[in-house]
Amino acid sequence: MKLPELTIGSFVARIPIIQGGMSIRVSTSALAVPVAECGGIGTIGGSGLPVAELQEDIRRAKQATDGVIAVNIMYAMKDFYNLVMGSIEAGADMIITGAGFSRDIFKIGKKHNIPIVSIVSSPAFAKLAEKLGAAAIIVEAAEAGGHLGTDKSLRDIFPSIRKVVSKVPLIAAGGITNGFEMAEIMDKFGADGIQIASRFVLSKECSVSQKFKEAFLEAKKEDIVLVQSPVGMTGRAIKTPFVEQMERGDDVAAKECKFKCLKKCSYKYCINDRLMASCTGDVDDGLVFSGANTWKMDEILPVQEIFDRFVHEAESVYKEKK
Ligand SMILES: Cc1cc2nc3c(=O)[nH]c(=O)nc-3n(C[C@H](O)[C@H](O)[C@H](O)COP(=O)(O)O)c2cc1C
Repeated sequence: MKLPELTIGSFVARIPIIQGGMSIRVSTSALAVPVAECGGIGTIGGSGLPVAELQEDIRRAKQATDGVIAVNIMYAMKDFYNLVMGSIEAGADMIITGAGFSRDIFKIGKKHNIPIVSIVSSPAFAKLAEKLGAAAIIVEAAEAGGHLGTDKSLRDIFPSIRKVVSKVPLIAAGGITNGFEMAEIMDKFGADGIQIASRFVLSKECSVSQKFKEAFLEAKKEDIVLVQSPVGMTGRAIKTPFVEQMERGDDVAAKECKFKCLKKCSYKYCINDRLMASCTGDVDDGLVFSGANTWKMDEILPVQEIFDRFVHEAESVYKEKK
């Protein structure tokens, strides 16, 4: 049966798939535009970018598509407020925020009439987000890539959050790799849609280096590990030589803080430098964030093909929610 649309504020995604935001320069307009054109929500990862660069990318995306373009900004960023305001000014359709919880963001959303989507990993924060005015809520579970807010799996955590959110769309994120899983999460668990990221790293359009994509293609299950992030959260990444150095307890700290990008930083290593390194091809010295189920994927596909497969698989088993 046909999948339902996903409505967030006044925006309608024909296909209930949000492409997860991926900083730094992993999900740019190059990926967000084809996703939006396919009927999903394309998300530019805004954290760690200079405001002017982010604004230019948002404008590029908005010129290229009539689809829905979101910007993901982590609350942990020192520049959070400027990145949010800059995104609104540049014409982003919605702001998606996680890695910490801002109460003020909802006031900004109301004032500028822009939907705010919260990423949460617990019923308490989901309830709070709905009460404060979130236009949709993304439940991000332990299988996700990047910074994690829980060690619970999607199938463990989603039902408890489903029970407390009734007014706005609830989206499931973390470890979803195909349309059958999408239909299961929507049918059995009552999700209104899904957010996926790792699957889109392995797309033709994702602008990361070929080496980054090869790390994804070559990763075995045991190569996808938990790391400590200077943000003060656990992260999920591929075991690169840099991660092995950290595991051995080597000193991997940067000589100086070039970016001053985080509200609070442990200075154990420079996350901005390490994410940029892998993005531009130096995977050995870099941090490659990845979802737990990347090892299940072995093909780089065009975004359209990813959508076609997800929709075909999901609709072959999806039953309408009662
Ligand atoms: C390379 C990479 C970078 C990410 N960066 C961010 C980010 O900047 N902000 C954020 O909220 N989530 C980030 N995430 C999490 C994704 O947006 C998404 O919710 C999650 O990875 C979904 O799980 P999946 O990758 O298994 O589909 C990142 C994930 C990956 C793989």
